[in-house]
Amino acid sequence: MEKLIITGGTPLKGEVVISGAKNAAVAIIPATLLINGVCRIDNLPNISDVKLYCNILENMGAKIEWINEHEITIDTRKIDPHKVPLEDTRKFRASYYLLGALLGRCKFAEVSSPGGCNIGSRPIDLHIKSFEALGANVEVANGKITATAKKLKGTNIYMDVVSVGATINAMLAAVLAEGTTIIDNAAKEPHIVDVANFLNTMGADIRGAGTDMIKVNGVKELRGNSTYSVVPDQIEAGTFMIAAIASKGDIQIKNCITKHLESIIAKIEEVGGNVDANGDHLRVWYTKKTHRANIKTLPYPGFPTDLQPQMGVLLSISEGTSIINEGIWESRFQYTQELNKMGAQITANGKQAVFEGVKKLTGAPVTATDLRAGAALIIAGCIASGRTEIYNLNHIDRGYENIEEKFRKLGAKIQRVDEEE
Ligand code: UD1
Repeated sequence: MEKLIITGGTPLKGEVVISGAKNAAVAIIPATLLINGVCRIDNLPNISDVKLYCNILENMGAKIEWINEHEITIDTRKIDPHKVPLEDTRKFRASYYLLGALLGRCKFAEVSSPGGCNIGSRPIDLHIKSFEALGANVEVANGKITATAKKLKGTNIYMDVVSVGATINAMLAAVLAEGTTIIDNAAKEPHIVDVANFLNTMGADIRGAGTDMIKVNGVKELRGNSTYSVVPDQIEAGTFMIAAIASKGDIQIKNCITKHLESIIAKIEEVGGNVDANGDHLRVWYTKKTHRANIKTLPYPGFPTDLQPQMGVLLSISEGTSIINEGIWESRFQYTQELNKMGAQITANGKQAVFEGVKKLTGAPVTATDLRAGAALIIAGCIASGRTEIYNLNHIDRGYENIEEKFRKLGAKIQRVDEEE
């Protein structure tokens, strides 16, 4: 079993280059299934979720060539929607995008009920409702979701809840549908814009992505032959921004879109950190003791739930009492129990947690309960006195590329070891 060992106490200093966004990549790869041709995708993060998705597509007959570790070509001219490896689709949440993409191209899609991080109840009723509105028949039985259609017809879809996945899935299913689809109360996350840009590059006609109303004019066919570069990862950038302040360091963050980071910049400045943002890079540095703040996580452009645990680490050592209200996932405070093992004083109750700022954290053996919790524990290990051991690294590897190498380059004393069980 692999674990990370961190000896904390070193301020993190230097430069880090942000990878392509996990959540964009795991939508763009299945979106290639809509294309009758070959496309090239660049700036892919080298993470296990991307590799898993590529395996799934290859199982279905797609031809994938790795140009380098961040760039691939995918040929989806010959795919068989009946060959989706169901056991793989169970392993992660983003497998639900196979439903929209395959339904759009083949009018048949079947996946296992999607898995993913255990951060709360993760229904897909809005995805199903969108497919049905477009004319599909969807059945959920025996742990599988099966969607079929004779044809898909453009329609108006109102999202009762702002959902990233349902917005992207509705877009995917509508791209080749007959006529126009309006997605109302759509999510506005940067990766939604990225998926729409990708599809438009391949011949789709999607307008308004990034606003709460997206209009998809159905087209007959999508063609490949273009290169597309995945948007930088807003969450990875935010993780290093928080690490800079929490560790009393000074980090230059390269290859990011600072416009996507406004809610994080605002919170870091509110607690007393310094940020200098310049378009595609920023500097984040510490000068004085941080103090309390309240946070409520919200859909974009609000403060992202995927940075809540990392920010929780910073608040746990900031002066005063902070409150975080989790607005998206009800089980996202499991990491607070791990942080309390390191000397934090956090009381979590349902969707709210109260952080009594402590002077310091102390190293301890802890477990990554989910992907972002894992990133938070790495930050905690870097700032704690003594030795921290982090277990359950598979969560972290799903979404962060070379995370310990990136931290090590900033001065963290971190190593991955394989421990006999
Ligand atoms: C995506 C991200 C995840 C992030 C989340 C919120 C991916 C692969 N994952 O997850 O990292 O934490 O957005 O930013 O991009 N909901 C319903 N019915 C549905 C769908 C969602 O009620 O059919 C609810 C959920 O329970 C949740 C809220 O809507 O409370 C938002 O979920 P959603 O935006 O769909 O999250 P994901 O797309 O699964």
